[in-house]
Amino acid sequence: MSGWGGGYVTDVTYLAQHYPEQSPHMLAAACVVSGVDPGFTGEAPGLHYLELGCGRGMNALVVAAGNPRWRVTAIDFTPAAIAEGRRTAAAAGLENITFIEADLAGFAETVEARALPEADFVSMHGVWSWVPVAVRAGIVRLLAAKLRAGGVVHVSYNVLPGLQGALGMQRLIRAAGGALAQRSDRQVLAGRQVVMDLVAAEALHLRTPVVTELLRHLEKAPVEYLAHEFMNATWAPCFQADVAEALADAKLELVASAKLPENFLGLMLAPAQIAVLERFDDPRLRELVKDICVDRALRHDVYVRGPQRLDRAVQDSLLRGMTLALTVLPGNFAYQIEMPAGRATLGEGFYGPAVAALAFGPRQVGELMTLPGQTGSSDNPAELVAMLVGTGQAALLPWPDAAPSGGAMRLNAVLARQVVRLDGLNRTTVAASARMGGGLVCRAVELFLLERIAEAGGGLDPGVWALELAPDLPVEDLNVLRGQLQKVVEDRLPIWRSVGAI
Ligand SMILES: C[S@@+](CC[C@H](N)C(=O)[O-])C[C@H]1O[C@@H](n2cnc3c(N)ncnc32)[C@H](O)[C@@H]1O
Repeated sequence: MSGWGGGYVTDVTYLAQHYPEQSPHMLAAACVVSGVDPGFTGEAPGLHYLELGCGRGMNALVVAAGNPRWRVTAIDFTPAAIAEGRRTAAAAGLENITFIEADLAGFAETVEARALPEADFVSMHGVWSWVPVAVRAGIVRLLAAKLRAGGVVHVSYNVLPGLQGALGMQRLIRAAGGALAQRSDRQVLAGRQVVMDLVAAEALHLRTPVVTELLRHLEKAPVEYLAHEFMNATWAPCFQADVAEALADAKLELVASAKLPENFLGLMLAPAQIAVLERFDDPRLRELVKDICVDRALRHDVYVRGPQRLDRAVQDSLLRGMTLALTVLPGNFAYQIEMPAGRATLGEGFYGPAVAALAFGPRQVGELMTLPGQTGSSDNPAELVAMLVGTGQAALLPWPDAAPSGGAMRLNAVLARQVVRLDGLNRTTVAASARMGGGLVCRAVELFLLERIAEAGGGLDPGVWALELAPDLPVEDLNVLRGQLQKVVEDRLPIWRSVGAI
Protein backbone atom coordinates (compact mmCIF):
# COMPACT_ATOMS: atom_id res chain seq x y z
CA MET A 1 0.00 0.00 0.00
CA SER A 2 1.45 3.41 -0.90
CA GLY A 3 1.46 6.69 1.02
CA TRP A 4 -0.98 8.66 -1.10
CA GLY A 5 -4.02 6.50 -0.17
CA GLY A 6 -4.29 7.79 3.41
CA GLY A 7 -4.87 4.19 4.54
CA TYR A 8 -7.09 3.20 1.59
CA VAL A 9 -5.90 0.26 -0.57
CA THR A 10 -4.03 1.57 -3.61
CA ASP A 11 -1.89 -1.35 -4.79
CA VAL A 12 -4.80 -3.35 -6.25
CA THR A 13 -7.46 -1.76 -8.50
CA TYR A 14 -11.09 -2.49 -7.63
CA LEU A 15 -13.42 -4.61 -9.77
CA ALA A 16 -15.41 -3.08 -12.63
CA GLN A 17 -18.97 -3.37 -11.35
CA HIS A 18 -22.43 -1.98 -11.95
CA TYR A 19 -25.28 -1.60 -9.45
CA PRO A 20 -28.84 -0.76 -10.56
CA GLU A 21 -29.29 1.33 -7.40
CA GLN A 22 -26.88 3.91 -8.88
CA SER A 23 -29.08 4.55 -11.91
CA PRO A 24 -30.38 8.14 -11.81
CA HIS A 25 -33.76 6.83 -12.98
CA MET A 26 -33.87 4.28 -10.16
CA LEU A 27 -33.05 7.09 -7.71
CA ALA A 28 -35.79 9.27 -9.22
CA ALA A 29 -38.23 6.34 -8.94
CA ALA A 30 -37.22 5.82 -5.29
CA CYS A 31 -38.05 9.48 -4.65
CA VAL A 32 -41.45 9.24 -6.37
CA VAL A 33 -42.32 5.94 -4.63
CA SER A 34 -41.61 7.75 -1.34
CA GLY A 35 -43.66 10.80 -2.32
CA VAL A 36 -40.76 13.16 -3.05
CA ASP A 37 -40.20 15.20 -6.21
CA PRO A 38 -36.99 14.05 -7.93
CA GLY A 39 -36.92 17.39 -9.75
CA PHE A 40 -37.08 16.23 -13.33
CA THR A 41 -39.67 14.79 -15.66
CA GLY A 42 -40.03 14.05 -19.35
CA GLU A 43 -37.09 14.70 -21.60
CA ALA A 44 -34.93 16.56 -19.07
CA PRO A 45 -31.98 17.41 -21.33
CA GLY A 46 -28.68 18.58 -19.95
CA LEU A 47 -28.74 17.10 -16.45
CA HIS A 48 -25.46 16.48 -14.66
CA TYR A 49 -24.72 13.13 -12.95
CA LEU A 50 -21.71 13.06 -10.67
CA GLU A 51 -20.13 9.86 -9.36
CA LEU A 52 -17.69 9.94 -6.45
CA GLY A 53 -15.23 7.05 -6.01
CA CYS A 54 -16.19 5.71 -9.45
CA GLY A 55 -13.49 3.02 -9.61
CA ARG A 56 -12.99 1.85 -13.19
CA GLY A 57 -16.13 3.73 -14.21
CA MET A 58 -18.47 0.93 -15.25
CA ASN A 59 -21.53 2.64 -13.76
CA ALA A 60 -20.63 6.15 -14.95
CA LEU A 61 -19.98 4.88 -18.49
CA VAL A 62 -23.34 3.12 -18.62
CA VAL A 63 -25.14 6.25 -17.35
CA ALA A 64 -23.35 8.37 -19.98
CA ALA A 65 -24.16 5.92 -22.79
CA GLY A 66 -27.78 5.61 -21.69
CA ASN A 67 -28.37 9.36 -21.38
CA PRO A 68 -26.47 10.87 -24.33
CA ARG A 69 -27.88 14.36 -23.71
CA TRP A 70 -26.74 14.43 -20.09
CA ARG A 71 -23.31 15.19 -18.73
CA VAL A 72 -21.51 12.70 -16.49
CA THR A 73 -18.50 13.41 -14.26
CA ALA A 74 -16.71 10.52 -12.56
CA ILE A 75 -14.07 11.06 -9.86
CA ASP A 76 -11.62 8.65 -8.24
CA PHE A 77 -8.12 9.02 -6.83
CA THR A 78 -6.71 5.76 -8.25
CA PRO A 79 -4.91 6.69 -11.48
CA ALA A 80 -5.11 3.20 -12.98
CA ALA A 81 -8.90 3.19 -12.53
CA ILE A 82 -9.28 6.65 -14.09
CA ALA A 83 -6.99 5.73 -17.00
CA GLU A 84 -9.09 2.64 -17.70
CA GLY A 85 -12.34 4.61 -17.53
CA ARG A 86 -10.99 7.21 -19.98
CA ARG A 87 -9.74 4.51 -22.33
CA THR A 88 -13.14 2.75 -22.36
CA ALA A 89 -14.98 6.05 -22.92
CA ALA A 90 -12.69 6.91 -25.84
CA ALA A 91 -13.05 3.44 -27.37
CA ALA A 92 -16.85 3.74 -27.16
CA GLY A 93 -16.76 7.32 -28.52
CA LEU A 94 -18.61 8.69 -25.46
CA GLU A 95 -18.15 12.45 -25.41
CA ASN A 96 -20.48 13.33 -22.52
CA ILE A 97 -18.34 11.83 -19.76
CA THR A 98 -15.32 13.28 -17.97
CA PHE A 99 -13.08 11.28 -15.65
CA ILE A 100 -11.22 13.28 -13.00
CA GLU A 101 -8.34 11.89 -10.97
CA ALA A 102 -8.64 13.61 -7.60
CA ASP A 103 -8.58 13.00 -3.87
CA LEU A 104 -12.04 13.77 -2.51
CA ALA A 105 -10.49 14.95 0.76
CA GLY A 106 -9.56 18.24 -0.90
CA PHE A 107 -11.27 18.27 -4.28
CA ALA A 108 -14.08 20.67 -3.27
CA GLU A 109 -11.52 23.49 -2.89
CA THR A 110 -9.92 23.08 -6.32
CA VAL A 111 -10.32 25.18 -9.47
CA GLU A 112 -11.51 22.02 -11.26
CA ALA A 113 -14.35 21.58 -8.77
CA ARG A 114 -15.36 25.21 -9.04
CA ALA A 115 -15.61 24.84 -12.80
CA LEU A 116 -18.04 21.89 -12.55
CA PRO A 117 -21.71 22.63 -13.19
CA GLU A 118 -24.20 21.94 -10.38
CA ALA A 119 -25.04 18.27 -10.07
CA ASP A 120 -28.60 16.96 -10.33
CA PHE A 121 -27.63 13.47 -9.11
CA VAL A 122 -24.63 12.34 -7.08
CA SER A 123 -23.89 8.67 -6.46
CA MET A 124 -21.20 7.13 -4.27
CA HIS A 125 -21.27 3.38 -3.97
CA GLY A 126 -18.87 1.56 -1.68
CA VAL A 127 -17.08 4.72 -0.57
CA TRP A 128 -18.48 6.32 2.62
CA SER A 129 -17.73 3.66 5.24
CA TRP A 130 -14.42 2.70 3.62
CA VAL A 131 -12.62 6.07 3.51
CA PRO A 132 -11.06 8.26 6.24
CA VAL A 133 -13.12 10.88 8.09
CA ALA A 134 -11.24 13.65 6.23
CA VAL A 135 -12.44 12.22 2.91
CA ARG A 136 -16.03 12.04 4.13
CA ALA A 137 -15.73 15.68 5.22
CA GLY A 138 -14.40 16.60 1.76
CA ILE A 139 -17.35 14.83 0.16
CA VAL A 140 -19.80 16.79 2.31
CA ARG A 141 -18.13 20.09 1.34
CA LEU A 142 -18.34 19.09 -2.33
CA LEU A 143 -22.04 18.25 -1.97
CA ALA A 144 -22.65 21.54 -0.16
CA ALA A 145 -20.99 23.45 -2.99
CA LYS A 146 -22.11 21.48 -6.04
CA LEU A 147 -25.48 19.78 -5.52
CA ARG A 148 -28.38 21.80 -6.84
CA ALA A 149 -31.33 22.63 -4.57
CA GLY A 150 -33.66 19.64 -4.88
CA GLY A 151 -30.77 17.46 -6.14
CA VAL A 152 -30.58 13.75 -5.29
CA VAL A 153 -27.72 11.87 -3.58
CA HIS A 154 -27.21 8.10 -3.38
CA VAL A 155 -24.87 6.86 -0.67
CA SER A 156 -24.25 3.21 0.16
CA TYR A 157 -22.42 2.18 3.30
CA ASN A 158 -21.87 -0.67 5.72
CA VAL A 159 -24.30 -0.23 8.53
CA LEU A 160 -24.38 -0.78 12.28
CA PRO A 161 -25.54 -2.75 14.10
CA GLY A 162 -25.91 -5.10 11.11
CA LEU A 163 -22.15 -5.52 10.81
CA GLN A 164 -21.11 -5.23 14.43
CA GLY A 165 -20.64 -9.00 14.66
CA ALA A 166 -18.02 -8.79 11.88
CA LEU A 167 -15.80 -6.05 13.34
CA GLY A 168 -13.43 -8.55 14.98
CA MET A 169 -13.19 -10.59 11.79
CA GLN A 170 -12.24 -7.57 9.68
CA ARG A 171 -9.65 -6.46 12.22
CA LEU A 172 -8.12 -9.94 12.28
CA ILE A 173 -8.03 -10.29 8.48
CA ARG A 174 -6.32 -6.93 8.18
CA ALA A 175 -3.84 -7.31 11.03
CA ALA A 176 -2.93 -10.95 10.38
CA GLY A 177 -2.81 -10.43 6.61
CA GLY A 178 -0.54 -7.38 7.07
CA ALA A 179 1.84 -9.46 9.20
CA LEU A 180 2.00 -12.36 6.76
CA ALA A 181 2.21 -10.78 3.28
CA GLN A 182 3.10 -7.63 1.37
CA ARG A 183 0.57 -6.73 -1.35
CA SER A 184 -3.09 -6.18 -0.35
CA ASP A 185 -4.46 -9.06 -2.42
CA ARG A 186 -2.01 -11.53 -0.87
CA GLN A 187 -2.57 -10.03 2.57
CA VAL A 188 -6.32 -10.47 2.41
CA LEU A 189 -6.03 -14.12 1.35
CA ALA A 190 -3.55 -14.80 4.15
CA GLY A 191 -5.80 -13.01 6.65
CA ARG A 192 -8.88 -14.88 5.47
CA GLN A 193 -7.05 -18.18 5.96
CA VAL A 194 -6.24 -17.24 9.57
CA VAL A 195 -9.93 -16.48 10.14
CA MET A 196 -10.96 -19.79 8.63
CA ASP A 197 -8.46 -21.67 10.76
CA LEU A 198 -9.83 -19.97 13.87
CA VAL A 199 -13.40 -20.71 12.80
CA ALA A 200 -12.39 -24.37 12.57
CA ALA A 201 -10.85 -23.99 16.05
CA GLU A 202 -14.24 -22.64 17.28
CA ALA A 203 -13.09 -19.11 18.16
CA LEU A 204 -16.02 -17.54 20.03
CA HIS A 205 -16.26 -14.21 18.19
CA LEU A 206 -16.08 -15.84 14.77
CA ARG A 207 -19.17 -17.91 15.46
CA THR A 208 -21.65 -15.06 14.99
CA PRO A 209 -24.36 -15.47 12.30
CA VAL A 210 -22.98 -12.45 10.40
CA VAL A 211 -19.46 -13.94 10.21
CA THR A 212 -20.80 -17.33 9.12
CA GLU A 213 -22.85 -15.67 6.38
CA LEU A 214 -19.97 -13.38 5.31
CA LEU A 215 -17.49 -16.24 5.11
CA ARG A 216 -19.81 -18.20 2.83
CA HIS A 217 -19.88 -15.20 0.51
CA LEU A 218 -16.15 -14.43 0.88
CA GLU A 219 -15.06 -17.90 -0.17
CA LYS A 220 -16.20 -17.19 -3.72
CA ALA A 221 -15.48 -13.45 -3.90
CA PRO A 222 -12.79 -12.09 -6.28
CA VAL A 223 -9.59 -11.09 -4.54
CA GLU A 224 -9.80 -7.41 -5.67
CA TYR A 225 -13.15 -7.18 -3.89
CA LEU A 226 -11.72 -8.78 -0.75
CA ALA A 227 -8.72 -6.45 -0.70
CA HIS A 228 -10.88 -3.31 -0.93
CA GLU A 229 -13.41 -4.69 1.53
CA PHE A 230 -11.01 -5.75 4.30
CA MET A 231 -7.56 -4.20 3.92
CA ASN A 232 -8.47 -0.52 4.33
CA ALA A 233 -7.13 1.01 7.54
CA THR A 234 -10.17 3.26 7.78
CA TRP A 235 -13.11 0.90 7.18
CA ALA A 236 -15.78 1.81 9.70
CA PRO A 237 -19.41 0.69 9.44
CA CYS A 238 -21.75 3.51 10.50
CA PHE A 239 -25.04 4.10 12.23
CA GLN A 240 -27.50 5.73 9.83
CA ALA A 241 -27.99 8.65 12.22
CA ASP A 242 -24.27 9.50 12.03
CA VAL A 243 -24.32 9.52 8.22
CA ALA A 244 -27.45 11.69 8.31
CA GLU A 245 -25.77 14.06 10.77
CA ALA A 246 -22.71 14.43 8.50
CA LEU A 247 -24.79 14.95 5.36
CA ALA A 248 -26.99 17.52 7.10
CA ASP A 249 -24.05 19.94 6.70
CA ALA A 250 -24.81 19.81 2.96
CA LYS A 251 -28.52 20.36 3.80
CA LEU A 252 -29.42 16.80 2.84
CA GLU A 253 -32.39 14.83 4.17
CA LEU A 254 -32.98 11.09 3.91
CA VAL A 255 -36.02 10.41 1.71
CA ALA A 256 -35.88 6.78 0.54
CA SER A 257 -33.97 3.58 -0.02
CA ALA A 258 -32.67 2.99 -3.54
CA LYS A 259 -33.76 -0.63 -3.04
CA LEU A 260 -37.41 0.02 -3.84
CA PRO A 261 -39.10 -2.74 -1.77
CA GLU A 262 -37.27 -1.45 1.34
CA ASN A 263 -39.53 1.62 1.22
CA PHE A 264 -42.49 -0.46 2.41
CA LEU A 265 -42.40 -0.73 6.19
CA GLY A 266 -44.64 -3.80 6.21
CA LEU A 267 -42.04 -5.68 4.16
CA MET A 268 -39.23 -4.68 6.51
CA LEU A 269 -40.65 -5.14 10.00
CA ALA A 270 -43.06 -7.37 11.90
CA PRO A 271 -46.22 -5.66 13.20
CA ALA A 272 -44.91 -5.57 16.80
CA GLN A 273 -41.69 -3.92 15.58
CA ILE A 274 -43.68 -1.35 13.60
CA ALA A 275 -45.67 -0.56 16.75
CA VAL A 276 -42.42 0.38 18.53
CA LEU A 277 -41.14 2.37 15.54
CA GLU A 278 -44.42 4.29 15.38
CA ARG A 279 -43.74 5.74 18.84
CA PHE A 280 -41.18 8.02 17.22
CA ASP A 281 -41.45 10.89 14.76
CA ASP A 282 -37.71 11.51 14.53
CA PRO A 283 -36.65 9.85 11.23
CA ARG A 284 -33.21 8.93 12.61
CA LEU A 285 -34.73 7.09 15.55
CA ARG A 286 -37.13 5.31 13.21
CA GLU A 287 -34.22 4.20 11.04
CA LEU A 288 -32.34 3.01 14.13
CA VAL A 289 -35.31 0.87 15.16
CA LYS A 290 -35.37 -0.55 11.63
CA ASP A 291 -31.64 -1.27 11.60
CA ILE A 292 -31.87 -2.92 15.03
CA CYS A 293 -34.57 -5.24 13.71
CA VAL A 294 -33.32 -6.24 10.25
CA ASP A 295 -30.39 -8.26 8.99
CA ARG A 296 -28.79 -5.74 6.65
CA ALA A 297 -25.08 -5.10 6.10
CA LEU A 298 -25.33 -2.39 3.44
CA ARG A 299 -27.73 0.52 3.14
CA HIS A 300 -28.48 2.27 -0.14
CA ASP A 301 -29.81 5.61 1.11
CA VAL A 302 -31.30 8.34 -1.07
CA TYR A 303 -30.97 11.90 0.21
CA VAL A 304 -32.39 15.09 -1.27
CA ARG A 305 -31.29 18.66 -0.71
CA GLY A 306 -34.54 20.34 0.26
CA PRO A 307 -37.11 17.62 -0.55
CA GLN A 308 -40.40 18.80 -2.03
CA ARG A 309 -43.31 16.54 -1.08
CA LEU A 310 -45.44 15.46 -4.01
CA ASP A 311 -49.17 16.01 -3.92
CA ARG A 312 -50.82 12.54 -3.81
CA ALA A 313 -52.49 13.02 -7.22
CA VAL A 314 -49.22 14.14 -8.83
CA GLN A 315 -47.36 11.20 -7.28
CA ASP A 316 -50.03 8.83 -8.58
CA SER A 317 -49.86 10.24 -12.09
CA LEU A 318 -46.04 10.15 -12.17
CA LEU A 319 -46.10 6.49 -11.11
CA ARG A 320 -48.85 5.51 -13.55
CA GLY A 321 -46.96 7.24 -16.37
CA MET A 322 -43.79 5.16 -15.85
CA THR A 323 -43.04 2.62 -18.60
CA LEU A 324 -41.79 -0.82 -17.64
CA ALA A 325 -40.29 -3.74 -19.58
CA LEU A 326 -39.98 -7.32 -18.40
CA THR A 327 -36.37 -8.51 -17.84
CA VAL A 328 -37.14 -12.16 -17.10
CA LEU A 329 -39.04 -14.79 -19.06
CA PRO A 330 -42.72 -14.67 -18.00
CA GLY A 331 -42.50 -18.33 -16.91
CA ASN A 332 -39.57 -17.49 -14.63
CA PHE A 333 -41.27 -14.56 -12.91
CA ALA A 334 -40.99 -15.02 -9.12
CA TYR A 335 -44.23 -14.29 -7.28
CA GLN A 336 -42.58 -14.79 -3.90
CA ILE A 337 -39.90 -12.46 -2.60
CA GLU A 338 -37.82 -12.78 0.53
CA MET A 339 -37.93 -9.64 2.64
CA PRO A 340 -36.74 -8.92 6.20
CA ALA A 341 -40.31 -9.24 7.52
CA GLY A 342 -40.66 -12.63 5.85
CA ARG A 343 -41.74 -14.02 2.50
CA ALA A 344 -44.00 -11.67 0.53
CA THR A 345 -46.33 -13.07 -2.12
CA LEU A 346 -47.25 -11.08 -5.21
CA GLY A 347 -50.88 -12.05 -5.85
CA GLU A 348 -51.06 -13.92 -9.16
CA GLY A 349 -54.57 -12.60 -9.79
CA PHE A 350 -53.16 -9.11 -10.05
CA TYR A 351 -49.53 -9.60 -11.08
CA GLY A 352 -50.16 -12.55 -13.45
CA PRO A 353 -52.04 -10.47 -16.06
CA ALA A 354 -49.47 -7.67 -15.67
CA VAL A 355 -46.63 -10.09 -16.40
CA ALA A 356 -48.58 -11.59 -19.32
CA ALA A 357 -49.15 -8.12 -20.80
CA LEU A 358 -45.46 -7.21 -20.39
CA ALA A 359 -44.51 -10.38 -22.29
CA PHE A 360 -45.75 -8.57 -25.42
CA GLY A 361 -43.58 -5.51 -24.83
CA PRO A 362 -43.22 -2.43 -22.62
CA ARG A 363 -46.35 -1.05 -20.95
CA GLN A 364 -47.19 1.90 -18.73
CA VAL A 365 -47.88 1.24 -15.05
CA GLY A 366 -51.38 2.75 -15.41
CA GLU A 367 -52.22 0.16 -18.08
CA LEU A 368 -50.78 -2.68 -16.00
CA MET A 369 -53.20 -1.82 -13.19
CA THR A 370 -56.40 -1.98 -15.23
CA LEU A 371 -56.06 -5.15 -17.29
CA PRO A 372 -59.01 -7.35 -18.22
CA GLY A 373 -59.37 -10.32 -15.90
CA GLN A 374 -57.19 -8.78 -13.18
CA THR A 375 -58.39 -9.63 -9.68
CA GLY A 376 -57.41 -8.49 -6.22
CA SER A 377 -56.50 -5.23 -7.88
CA SER A 378 -54.33 -2.81 -6.03
CA ASP A 379 -54.77 0.95 -6.02
CA ASN A 380 -51.11 1.42 -5.22
CA PRO A 381 -48.92 2.00 -8.28
CA ALA A 382 -45.91 2.56 -6.00
CA GLU A 383 -46.17 -1.04 -4.85
CA LEU A 384 -46.37 -2.34 -8.41
CA VAL A 385 -43.29 -0.36 -9.46
CA ALA A 386 -41.37 -1.50 -6.37
CA MET A 387 -42.32 -5.15 -6.76
CA LEU A 388 -41.52 -5.36 -10.46
CA VAL A 389 -38.50 -3.06 -10.72
CA GLY A 390 -37.13 -3.48 -7.19
CA THR A 391 -36.94 -7.26 -7.61
CA GLY A 392 -35.03 -6.86 -10.89
CA GLN A 393 -37.82 -8.54 -12.84
CA ALA A 394 -38.71 -5.42 -14.82
CA ALA A 395 -36.78 -2.36 -15.96
CA LEU A 396 -37.81 1.27 -15.92
CA LEU A 397 -37.79 2.81 -19.39
CA PRO A 398 -37.48 6.57 -18.82
CA TRP A 399 -36.95 7.08 -22.56
CA PRO A 400 -39.38 4.44 -23.97
CA ASP A 401 -39.26 5.78 -27.52
CA ALA A 402 -35.47 6.00 -27.81
CA ALA A 403 -33.97 4.04 -30.67
CA PRO A 404 -30.99 1.82 -29.73
CA SER A 405 -28.26 4.44 -29.54
CA GLY A 406 -24.81 4.37 -31.05
CA GLY A 407 -23.16 5.22 -27.72
CA ALA A 408 -24.85 2.37 -25.81
CA MET A 409 -24.15 -0.16 -28.56
CA ARG A 410 -20.54 0.95 -28.92
CA LEU A 411 -20.02 0.72 -25.17
CA ASN A 412 -21.54 -2.77 -25.12
CA ALA A 413 -19.15 -3.82 -27.88
CA VAL A 414 -16.15 -2.45 -25.94
CA LEU A 415 -17.31 -4.09 -22.69
CA ALA A 416 -17.86 -7.35 -24.55
CA ARG A 417 -14.24 -7.33 -25.66
CA GLN A 418 -13.14 -6.58 -22.06
CA VAL A 419 -15.26 -9.05 -20.10
CA VAL A 420 -16.20 -11.99 -22.31
CA ARG A 421 -14.17 -15.13 -21.67
CA LEU A 422 -15.14 -18.71 -22.39
CA ASP A 423 -14.67 -19.67 -18.73
CA GLY A 424 -16.80 -16.76 -17.51
CA LEU A 425 -19.80 -16.62 -19.82
CA ASN A 426 -22.23 -16.63 -16.90
CA ARG A 427 -20.50 -13.83 -15.01
CA THR A 428 -22.84 -10.99 -14.09
CA THR A 429 -22.21 -7.79 -16.01
CA VAL A 430 -24.22 -4.99 -17.63
CA ALA A 431 -25.41 -3.90 -21.07
CA ALA A 432 -26.06 -0.20 -21.66
CA SER A 433 -29.51 0.72 -22.93
CA ALA A 434 -30.77 3.99 -24.39
CA ARG A 435 -34.36 3.32 -23.28
CA MET A 436 -33.35 2.47 -19.70
CA GLY A 437 -31.07 5.48 -19.46
CA GLY A 438 -28.71 3.02 -17.81
CA GLY A 439 -27.86 -0.64 -17.80
CA LEU A 440 -29.53 -4.01 -17.99
CA VAL A 441 -27.98 -6.49 -15.56
CA CYS A 442 -27.06 -9.48 -17.71
CA ARG A 443 -24.56 -12.31 -18.18
CA ALA A 444 -21.29 -11.88 -20.06
CA VAL A 445 -22.55 -14.21 -22.80
CA GLU A 446 -25.33 -11.71 -23.50
CA LEU A 447 -22.83 -8.92 -24.11
CA PHE A 448 -21.01 -11.18 -26.55
CA LEU A 449 -24.24 -12.00 -28.39
CA LEU A 450 -25.45 -8.38 -28.41
CA GLU A 451 -22.18 -7.38 -30.04
CA ARG A 452 -22.29 -10.21 -32.58
CA ILE A 453 -25.91 -9.53 -33.53
CA ALA A 454 -25.28 -5.79 -33.91
CA GLU A 455 -22.18 -6.51 -35.96
CA ALA A 456 -24.02 -8.99 -38.18
CA GLY A 457 -26.82 -6.48 -38.81
CA GLY A 458 -29.45 -8.86 -37.44
CA GLY A 459 -28.14 -12.09 -39.00
CA LEU A 460 -28.16 -14.93 -36.47
CA ASP A 461 -25.69 -17.79 -36.70
CA PRO A 462 -24.90 -19.40 -33.33
CA GLY A 463 -22.66 -21.98 -35.08
CA VAL A 464 -20.28 -19.24 -36.26
CA TRP A 465 -20.33 -17.51 -32.87
CA ALA A 466 -19.51 -20.74 -31.04
CA LEU A 467 -16.49 -21.14 -33.31
CA GLU A 468 -15.42 -17.53 -32.69
CA LEU A 469 -15.67 -18.01 -28.93
CA ALA A 470 -13.90 -21.36 -28.81
CA PRO A 471 -12.06 -22.24 -32.03
CA ASP A 472 -10.18 -25.07 -30.32
CA LEU A 473 -13.12 -26.96 -28.83
CA PRO A 474 -13.82 -30.50 -30.07
CA VAL A 475 -16.84 -30.71 -32.41
CA GLU A 476 -19.21 -32.25 -29.82
CA ASP A 477 -18.46 -29.51 -27.28
CA LEU A 478 -18.80 -26.90 -30.00
CA ASN A 479 -22.27 -28.22 -30.77
CA VAL A 480 -23.24 -28.01 -27.10
CA LEU A 481 -21.98 -24.40 -26.99
CA ARG A 482 -23.88 -23.62 -30.19
CA GLY A 483 -27.10 -24.96 -28.62
CA GLN A 484 -26.49 -22.90 -25.48
CA LEU A 485 -25.94 -19.71 -27.50
CA GLN A 486 -29.06 -20.42 -29.56
CA LYS A 487 -31.11 -20.78 -26.37
CA VAL A 488 -29.77 -17.54 -24.89
CA VAL A 489 -30.72 -15.69 -28.08
CA GLU A 490 -34.22 -17.24 -28.13
CA ASP A 491 -34.85 -16.37 -24.48
CA ARG A 492 -33.23 -12.97 -24.29
CA LEU A 493 -33.64 -11.32 -27.69
CA PRO A 494 -37.22 -10.13 -26.96
CA ILE A 495 -35.97 -8.66 -23.66
CA TRP A 496 -32.97 -6.93 -25.28
CA ARG A 497 -35.36 -5.47 -27.87
CA SER A 498 -37.88 -4.33 -25.22
CA VAL A 499 -35.26 -2.45 -23.23
CA GLY A 500 -33.62 -1.05 -26.34
CA ALA A 501 -30.24 -2.73 -25.89
CA ILE A 502 -30.43 -3.73 -29.55
C1 LIG B 1 -14.86 -0.04 -2.92
S1 LIG B 1 -14.37 0.93 -4.28
C2 LIG B 1 -15.92 1.24 -5.08
C3 LIG B 1 -15.76 1.61 -6.52
C4 LIG B 1 -17.07 1.78 -7.28
N1 LIG B 1 -17.86 2.85 -6.73
C5 LIG B 1 -17.84 0.48 -7.27
O1 LIG B 1 -18.80 0.36 -6.53
O2 LIG B 1 -17.47 -0.43 -8.01
C6 LIG B 1 -14.01 2.54 -3.58
C7 LIG B 1 -13.40 3.49 -4.55
O3 LIG B 1 -13.17 4.73 -3.88
C8 LIG B 1 -11.93 5.26 -4.33
N2 LIG B 1 -11.40 6.18 -3.28
C9 LIG B 1 -11.00 5.84 -2.04
N3 LIG B 1 -10.55 6.92 -1.40
C10 LIG B 1 -10.68 7.97 -2.24
C11 LIG B 1 -10.39 9.35 -2.15
N4 LIG B 1 -9.83 9.86 -1.04
N5 LIG B 1 -10.65 10.14 -3.21
C12 LIG B 1 -11.19 9.62 -4.34
N6 LIG B 1 -11.47 8.32 -4.49
C13 LIG B 1 -11.23 7.49 -3.45
C14 LIG B 1 -11.06 4.04 -4.55
O4 LIG B 1 -10.00 4.29 -5.44
C15 LIG B 1 -12.08 3.02 -5.09
O5 LIG B 1 -12.09 3.04 -6.50
